[in-house]
Amino acid sequence: MTASPARDPSSNRELSFQQPGTGSDPPVPLSGRAEETGEPRVFLWTVLTLLAVYASLRFVVPWISLWLGTSQIPVPVPRFAIGLYMLCAVIGALVYVNSDARRWRLFLGPVVRLFALPRERIRWPQAVVFGAIPLVIGALAWNRVMPSSQPPAQLRMQHPTMPQKYVSLENPFRKLPEAERQKAEAEGVILYQKNCRPCHGTSADGNGPLARGLRLRPVNFTDPGTIATVVEPYVFWRVKEGGIGLPAIGTPWESAMPAWSDLTDDEIWKVVMATYALAGKEPRKPEGASP
Ligand code: HEC
Repeated sequence: MTASPARDPSSNRELSFQQPGTGSDPPVPLSGRAEETGEPRVFLWTVLTLLAVYASLRFVVPWISLWLGTSQIPVPVPRFAIGLYMLCAVIGALVYVNSDARRWRLFLGPVVRLFALPRERIRWPQAVVFGAIPLVIGALAWNRVMPSSQPPAQLRMQHPTMPQKYVSLENPFRKLPEAERQKAEAEGVILYQKNCRPCHGTSADGNGPLARGLRLRPVNFTDPGTIATVVEPYVFWRVKEGGIGLPAIGTPWESAMPAWSDLTDDEIWKVVMATYALAGKEPRKPEGASP
């Protein structure tokens, strides 16, 4: 909106299609401060008006529902609606300041002054604004990345249903003669101590050296409520697909359990067997299996 009609005070007739600030208005000095030139502080008032609109949406409107008696508590305006109203308010304010060439120039004055670097030294408003930009960006990034100790709003299901393709799998090493089974289990223990111990602990009690840093702690496998309550293919699935493979109902708290796609299926079966052995637990028998 660069071409807007402006009023020429000397002739008092309408001038159309005039570039803002190029008319016969007395020039508004971009460098002078408003208080020195005695001009209205358009920028300041625009910002204050927008702040007032925001404050009333945020704090006044919620109380109206109380006065109207429609609710027992102040009903907050949804964030999305506030955003929409604020967008309209900003557009409205810009249309207003831009509808008059002189007002537009007065509005731009502080903005131009902010960016115009003085020859002598940086003025303090510039120092504050430009110093705040990296700080604000830093704070926003910190807020996003910083793990919080707040529990997520949804409940997490510890044992969601396993995907269908795992249900009928069996641990091939359990069927081997005892000596060979023990050999496989010993290999599994080595794999466990190499890969799983940092989180799950040397004796599978969930107290590995890394466990303390995790918001969702690895479960204690020696507890009768954990791996002893599930069938072996279930544990196979959990090791193979990790926290990423959990269905939505298991994802709140963001499990740090890795997906062990770099272990072969045989290695996973061995490590699963070793996990049960270390925890001193037996897998649950599948329904209908002979004891
Ligand atoms: C980076 C840490 C970490 C490592 C390494 C890790 N886990 Fe986990 N694991 C977790 C966390 C945290 C959970 C709990 C959240 C979940 O169920 O996903 C978990 C859950 C599990 C579960 C599900 C238990 C249940 O009752 O639902 C099994 C089984 C498991 N891990 C086995 C293993 C095995 C075997 C290894 C090694 C091959 C391993 N984990 C390596 C962090 C880890």
